[in-house]
Amino acid sequence: MDTNENLPRKILFASSEAYPLIKTGGLGDVSGSLPVALKSLHRDVRLVLPAYREILNHKGKSVTIAQFTLPLGHVKIKERLLPGTRLKVWLVDCPSCFDRSGSPYLGENGLPWPDNAERYALFCQAVSHLALDKAGLEWQPDLVHCNDWQTGLVPAQLSLSESRPATLFTIHNLAYQGLFPETLFSTLNLPWSFWSPHALEYYGQLSFLKGGIVFADRINTVSPTYAEEIQTPQFGCGLDGLLRHRKDKLSGILNGIDKNWNPAQDPLLTKNYSLREPGGKKDNKKALLRELHLPVKMNIPLMAFVGRLVEQKGIDILLTALPEIVDLPAQVVFLGSGEKRYEQALRQFAKRHPEQIAVQIGFDEALAHRIEAGADIFLMPSRFEPCGLNQMYSQRYGTPPVVHRVGGLADTVTDTTPATLRDGTATGVVFDGAESTVLIEAVKRATLLYGQQKQYWQPLQRQGMRQDFSWRRSAKNYLELYRQTLLERAG
Ligand code: ADP
Ligand code: GLC
Repeated sequence: MDTNENLPRKILFASSEAYPLIKTGGLGDVSGSLPVALKSLHRDVRLVLPAYREILNHKGKSVTIAQFTLPLGHVKIKERLLPGTRLKVWLVDCPSCFDRSGSPYLGENGLPWPDNAERYALFCQAVSHLALDKAGLEWQPDLVHCNDWQTGLVPAQLSLSESRPATLFTIHNLAYQGLFPETLFSTLNLPWSFWSPHALEYYGQLSFLKGGIVFADRINTVSPTYAEEIQTPQFGCGLDGLLRHRKDKLSGILNGIDKNWNPAQDPLLTKNYSLREPGGKKDNKKALLRELHLPVKMNIPLMAFVGRLVEQKGIDILLTALPEIVDLPAQVVFLGSGEKRYEQALRQFAKRHPEQIAVQIGFDEALAHRIEAGADIFLMPSRFEPCGLNQMYSQRYGTPPVVHRVGGLADTVTDTTPATLRDGTATGVVFDGAESTVLIEAVKRATLLYGQQKQYWQPLQRQGMRQDFSWRRSAKNYLELYRQTLLERAG
């Protein structure tokens, strides 16, 4: 430890995904950026991930640096660098758990892999083993930073050891809890003392997430507003009581966005542009419309949605609002994948309005960049949003967002009002209430502002582009939280 600063020197960052090795959503972005930002603040950081087939096939060399047998299986630790960085990544290699094609979490039928409890319990056992320096690597972290339910058993397991490092558990999404039937509990080699409502039991089920919430020294979420919201029945997903109980240890830190999301340098764009030279944005709009086979109409707004097609993101609210949005008139592009019913509904809309609606089903990182750059208005009517990254990307790309006032959306977008226009703080349109009628009003408001380019829209775009959403800022906040966690643990 740096005694003069009380900062942890060695940090083990555990996650189930990290860009660019593997990504299904925002957790991947965060885990691919935050550890790198911490390293640039002179911390000795190791990122630990499951060795999915997709990662093992990724270009770049890895070397086996340790192997050991855990109650749930034999594990090799392979070390490689995170592409484009000097950050060391430790891969927990257990072929029966992770060497399979497809998504980390879901099988081809779209349902969770049937052995997810065993897979992530093994991952947690391996992380705990590394955290206690039992793998012969002569590297013991001062703090283990765990993320989401897939790492939830780590703080629980470490709590059994006196010489353990400090633990921080970050909740990226309370709605995903890693709940499994009671019958699995005995197969995971966990001590019986954990089978209690004060530990891992959640109304007769095994909860991985509770392992993090109950046992970590500190808990945080990815925005200050979400940290408050989850203490209420409305957003608490059944855990609000427990979170209120631990509220003294709970805080919120906003995510940042990676430097590769920068319209001035983004190699995926048709033309780069910036605050000083914004002209190129128009070229990106034209190119995007052509790519999507929509007629190039520069005088009507192009709106965009990028994200998982699930209830959280308010895609159903947007679908209900869509006929009126199309009539404004507007063009709308969707990029996403998720529940089949939403994919089908979107495809039908695109068929009915071939000149106005374009739908791309699937995961396409490059297209997401081109959409952020080419669209005029970004739509995020999420029912809840722990942080949300797209509204930050869109501000950076001069594409003001229309967002529901929840979680990180409330914390990162400033509504356009006469007052915020006057003082130059407006960056988007914020609405209250997850309903299509309210969304339509908000979209109309954005369209009116868009119509007044010079007077209203351009100042809004510029203010968004000026925001500091850097990871460096968030990483400094994490360092401060790590410092407090270590101080408290030292007693
Ligand atoms: P969440 O993690 O809840 O899905 P975030 O807004 O935090 O939401 O992050 C989502 C990330 O995943 C963003 O980087 C977004 O661009 C990306 N993303 C989501 N869906 C797609 C898709 N279909 N194609 C490309 N990128 C996507
Ligand atoms: C989750 C949340 C999202 C957040 C992301 C990264 O997936 O849904 O709001 O931005 O994690 O923290």
